[in-house]
Amino acid sequence: MHKVQERVRPAPAAASRVPVRVFSGIQPTGVVHLGNYVGALRQWAQLQREHESYFCIVDLHAITTPYDPAQFPQQVLEAAAVNVAAGIDPQQSVLFIQSHVAEHTELMWLLNVLTPLGQLERMTQFKEKSRHVRAGIMAGLLNYPVLQAADVLLYKAALVPVGEDQVQHVELMRDIAERFNKQFGETFPLPGVRLTKGARILALNDPTAKMSKSVPGSYIALVDDPETIRKKVRAAVTDPGPPAKGSKLDEATPGVANLFTLLDVFAPVRHPEFADAYQAGTIRYSDLKQVLAEAIVQTFAPVRDKYASLMQRPDEVRALLAHGADRARPVAAATMEEVRGRMGLRGAP
Ligand code: TYM
Repeated sequence: MHKVQERVRPAPAAASRVPVRVFSGIQPTGVVHLGNYVGALRQWAQLQREHESYFCIVDLHAITTPYDPAQFPQQVLEAAAVNVAAGIDPQQSVLFIQSHVAEHTELMWLLNVLTPLGQLERMTQFKEKSRHVRAGIMAGLLNYPVLQAADVLLYKAALVPVGEDQVQHVELMRDIAERFNKQFGETFPLPGVRLTKGARILALNDPTAKMSKSVPGSYIALVDDPETIRKKVRAAVTDPGPPAKGSKLDEATPGVANLFTLLDVFAPVRHPEFADAYQAGTIRYSDLKQVLAEAIVQTFAPVRDKYASLMQRPDEVRALLAHGADRARPVAAATMEEVRGRMGLRGAP
């Protein structure tokens, strides 16, 4: 079974002098799904207890793909509410909307001058996304990871909890930070990625691809009702029957491995018995799916309730986002002051 162990690439010496800050972001486009929860949100909720944490609804990233401006503010609000419902504590963490802190775009421009074009063109996500673009690729799509670097570096964050699909972007921001430090003096801790178990949850309907909000049959939304969750888990692609006796779980097909990863996250105590049944060749995938579906339903029920209650009080959500931006701004402003100084942009001599 493909399993990503919990691993932290240790932040380098420069970062160890200051308390390690956490930064991560999520796009407010449509649904927040099980993959987002397992790969990212779940670890954000844990990390916020030990680290000064910044979590950002990245609206400026979201507008690099087609969107409806009339519906967008509502989507941003909903994304924020799902984050809070899923365990982000807006008192403990700084939860805010990217465009509410103007320094993100300013730093992005400055980092652009340190980012090789070739490296941006080699980004897997850029290549994937541009394949689906018909009307011409815009510069925003190419520069997307530079804005992501600015997000993290603005807060001098050293720990970036994300899913596996973001690793390359974090490596790029690390390169950019290193180049900046070399050219203009030690300024940024080098960010390291933090991956958790389930850093790449696969699509339920097609386990050769990752679970993604852009592919409708692939995901379970955090706010799906219990019956929908059960139906989607039941429909997940597995094998036609149990494997031969003595089969190894780490050689299971992607669809089966994916369900075992989810079982390990949502019902870890039930994992060993199904792993044994797999190896004995007696497993019934319908049983596994039933246990898994109930565990997911149980985990997401309070998220769904809290989300519904928050969306009845949208002004409260707006207020907590405004509060988050108020907390983020002074930190961002201080970094920009330092960066402008180092880059010789502090006005006339
Ligand atoms: P986004 O909105 O696509 O996804 C949010 C987070 O969910 C993770 N994720 C997954 N994890 C496991 N399995 C999956 N199938 C799966 N799908 C998504 C993502 O890896 C991510 O951690 N560019 C980022 C947002 C961003 C950001 C940042 C992240 C903007 N600035 C700065 C970190 C730091 C994105 O599009 O995430």
